[in-house]
Amino acid sequence: MYELFDIRGKVIVITGGTGVLGTLMVEYLAAHGAKVAVLARNREKGDELVRRVKAAGGEAIFLQTDVTDESVLKRNAEEIAEQYGKIDVLINGAGGNMPGATIGPDNTIFDLKTDDFRKVVDLNLMGTVIPTLVFAEYMVREKRGNIVNISSASALRPLTRVAGYGAAKSAVTNFTKYMAGELALKFGEDFRVNALCPGFFITEQNRALLTNPDGSRTDRGNAIIAHTPFRRFGVPEDLLGTLHYLVSDASKFVTGTVAIADGGFDAFSL
Ligand SMILES: NC(=O)c1ccc[n+]([C@@H]2O[C@H](COP(=O)([O-])OP(=O)(O)OC[C@H]3O[C@@H](n4cnc5c(N)ncnc54)[C@H](O)[C@@H]3O)[C@@H](O)[C@H]2O)c1
Repeated sequence: MYELFDIRGKVIVITGGTGVLGTLMVEYLAAHGAKVAVLARNREKGDELVRRVKAAGGEAIFLQTDVTDESVLKRNAEEIAEQYGKIDVLINGAGGNMPGATIGPDNTIFDLKTDDFRKVVDLNLMGTVIPTLVFAEYMVREKRGNIVNISSASALRPLTRVAGYGAAKSAVTNFTKYMAGELALKFGEDFRVNALCPGFFITEQNRALLTNPDGSRTDRGNAIIAHTPFRRFGVPEDLLGTLHYLVSDASKFVTGTVAIADGGFDAFSL
């Protein structure tokens, strides 16, 4: 009863685990005793991350994946189950934006490249749906499972410019709630699905939107800070407590929720 936050021995799969936010999540979860399966595209980055985790006394493996490819994900799931014997948690962390799905400051929606919009939907939505189905099927056989999706501020209320990304992430939120109901109704209360919703964190995907080459903030960066009661962008560490809560038994009656970590951005109006 008093071990609610104990994640020692939990097998946690994280897609996009070599990204800016994912890397710290992997290191944090492993430092707290979880066995982490890092799924991402870049083997070099993945191997280096696993080496660092192990050097720090943690346990992790890296598997190359493509979150839009069901057959690769099925092989990943088999390999993880073989290596660790179970899968407790899936974190759907892979995601991102691309310039063609974004409306430039001097453009309108009619300049949108629909092929890029489709690619962004494919990565963020299908790249969450497909791993969820592959790993949830395994979890159902094991009679328990916990899934954490990564949403975005653009999912809560549309942000200007990021048309494709916002559409995809808001669909991820809807799918999170759908799956929370689906799994609990059909398979019981040992299945949970929630979303972690980060505010604005400077990473490679959005650096050029938020900062100028000299490091100063763009107009958009300034507008975001003016709309954030904490008056700063997030740093990856800001997400770890909420993530820990969601992957642990501390949140065992919590499903279908979106946990926002954004310095107050979503709550603030004027
Ligand atoms: N950075 C932010 O401010 C912010 C805010 C809200 C939400 N997010 C979300 O958080 C998550 C992590 O973001 P980040 O900023 O660390 O991004 P990042 O670009 O640093 O990392 C993305 C990761 O996804 C992986 N990836 C991309 N396409 C893939 C594919 N097809 N198959 C497998 N892996 C793939 C990459 O290899 C990388 O590991 C994403 O879902 C992102 O949309 C980020």
